[in-house]
Parts: sequence; structure tokens; C-alpha cells
Amino acid sequence: MSERRHFRSIAEVGVDSVRRLLDLTDHMAEVSRRPNPKVPALRGRTVCNLFFEDSTRTRMSFDTAAKRLSADTMTLAVGSSSVNKGESLRDTVETLSAMGVDAFVVRHRTAGVPWQISGWTDAVVVNAGDGWHAHPTQALLDAYTIMNRRGTKNFEGLSVAIVGDIRHSRVARSVTEILTMLGATVTHVAPRTLLPPMNPTPSTHALDDLIGSVDVLYMLRIQTERMGTGLVPGGSEYTDRFALTPSRARRLRPDSLVMHPGPMNRGVEITVDPSELPQSVITAQVTNGIAARMAVLFDLLGSTAGLEEG
Ligand code: NCD
Repeated sequence: MSERRHFRSIAEVGVDSVRRLLDLTDHMAEVSRRPNPKVPALRGRTVCNLFFEDSTRTRMSFDTAAKRLSADTMTLAVGSSSVNKGESLRDTVETLSAMGVDAFVVRHRTAGVPWQISGWTDAVVVNAGDGWHAHPTQALLDAYTIMNRRGTKNFEGLSVAIVGDIRHSRVARSVTEILTMLGATVTHVAPRTLLPPMNPTPSTHALDDLIGSVDVLYMLRIQTERMGTGLVPGGSEYTDRFALTPSRARRLRPDSLVMHPGPMNRGVEITVDPSELPQSVITAQVTNGIAARMAVLFDLLGSTAGLEEG
């Protein structure tokens, strides 16, 4: 297959493209605020959502992004597809490619699947989450959300604490990659059992030592579907030590940002209502997700001629 550009991990995309995509996301956010938030940029192109794992926001966000760019969209409902008759991933991808797909947006429980798929199709491949490995559009939308609040994409001096189930989190991996790339200092906060075995990022289990000083507090969901038993302290111990509780929220700096990729386990990693927390940008993350995915799809498939109002 030809050497095409894809969007599969932050490391692969590199810092120059990340900066360019952040600017493009800002442009797409402006498009999204228009009364008619639609441009003809990808008219005639087909974007296929291939989600082999549950998803609400990421799938809807990609679908909306493709539609705002006027692309045609296809969504494979895996639950009712021939995957259930034993059709292999490769046959599925080749069949859909033969229908004329320009981009596959792929979510799969196995790490590396987006790379495999790019070997089987001429379409571009966008990683929407592969196993525990990577979730690069989440990282882009998060970096954009921070950039938008701070007014700069230079994150030198920015201190970020990512809290919770780092080990099973593709979000933590990709967010750490992008924020470090842009100059931020990232600390992982978790019980030892929820850190990856060879973690290059500085880590601590003392959330209370950091909470009053960080610029960004990034909370993660406990990924119960990905873990064996015994990794998380039982009862309320996890919540007592690692959750964003009302008393911790009171210690946050007023100008800090609280983030969460969703879905949230209320009462587990977060026991405050984020809608009552002035520092929360969780809703902005969801809104910005559409603009970030528009930027990625446009960057891979579009030409600048298509950005006027349609
Ligand atoms: C994340 C995911 O699926 O990796 N969710 C998302 O895409 N917004 C995080 C999670 O499931 O905890």
C-alpha cells in the first residue's frame, strides 16, 4: 500500500504537525461557532467509523466532525455486522475499502490495530483509541483546551497532574506525550498498582502534596473493564486518597483547570459536581473534541479551497 499520512499516535505525528493541528483546531472551533457550522471542505469524501469497542462521545464527535466538513459518513455497527459471522478484521477493512472509503476512524480493544489496518487499505487511518496504547485525538483536544484557556501553545512551566488509572489508560499515555512535547511538566498520581511497570514519567501517590499548586488536574476513569481484581484499594480507600473531593477542590488554585476525558465514574474518581466547579473545563473538552477531529480529518483529506461557507 502507498505511504500515506495517518493520525495514529502523537509521537508519530511529531511536534511540528501537532502545533499546526492546534492552529487548525482553533480555526475549526471558529467554524463550529458559526450559525451554519458547516464547510464544503470534504465534499465527496467518505469517512468510515469502525468502532469495535463501546463509545459515546468519541464516535459521535468524529461523526459530527465529518458532517461539519460535508464528508459522507459510514458507521459499521459491529454488533450487527458480519464480524459476528467470523469475518476477519482484514476482510472487513478490504470490503469497506472496496466501497470507496477515504478515511477509517478506528477504535479497537487491541493495541496496534490502526497500524495493521493501514497495511490493508489505501485510505488514511485515524486512531480513535487502540487498547491501552494511544488515543491521539483526545490528546489533541485536551492540548487545545489548555491552549485556548491560557492563550498560548507554549506549555513551558505548565505543571500537570494526571490522576488515577494511568496503567490502563491510553488517554494518559497520549496526553502525557503531547503535553510533554509542548513543554509541560507532567506528574502521574496513582497507587503503585495503577502505574505502568516501566513508567518514564515522574510519579507520586501523594495527591494532597500537589493539589494546591498544579496548573492542570487531569482526572482519569478507573478502567474496571481492563483490570484484574485486587489492583484498586477496596471500599472508599481509593476515593479517600485519589478522588477529587469537595475538600480537595477547595484547595485548587482559582486559575487551575480540571479536566476529565469522560465517561466519569461519579462518586469514585470525582465526588464533586463538575458543573459547580469554576475550574472545570470538562464540557469545553467535549465541544473542542469536534473541532480537533475536524482539524485531523481536514489535514489528512482536505484542500484549503474547501473552507469557505457552504
Ligand atoms: C476514554 C477512552 O475510551 O479511552 N474515553 C474517551 O474516549 N473519551 C477514556 C475512558 O474510557 O476512560
